[in-house]
Amino acid sequence: MKTIVICMGSSCFARGNARNVELAEAFLDAHPEIEARVDLRGGLCCDRCADGPNVVVDGTVHTRVDEPAMRAILDGLLG
Ligand code: FES
Repeated sequence: MKTIVICMGSSCFARGNARNVELAEAFLDAHPEIEARVDLRGGLCCDRCADGPNVVVDGTVHTRVDEPAMRAILDGLLG
């Protein structure tokens, strides 16, 4: 099981995670075969707002996750 936590704190949300949630949900909708092994959740502010938007993948914090970076994280789920 892969766990992806998208920070929903106000800073990260405003700086890109609102869009990243949409990308992730659309990706899982498009790839139902992996949905059962991906735990996608929203998370609370982890006090790294200055580095945001932040997305945590299996405990590793990814910072400044713009759209290409989010797509790369999602594509990594297919491998
Ligand atoms: S809002 Fe995401 S780390 Fe603070």
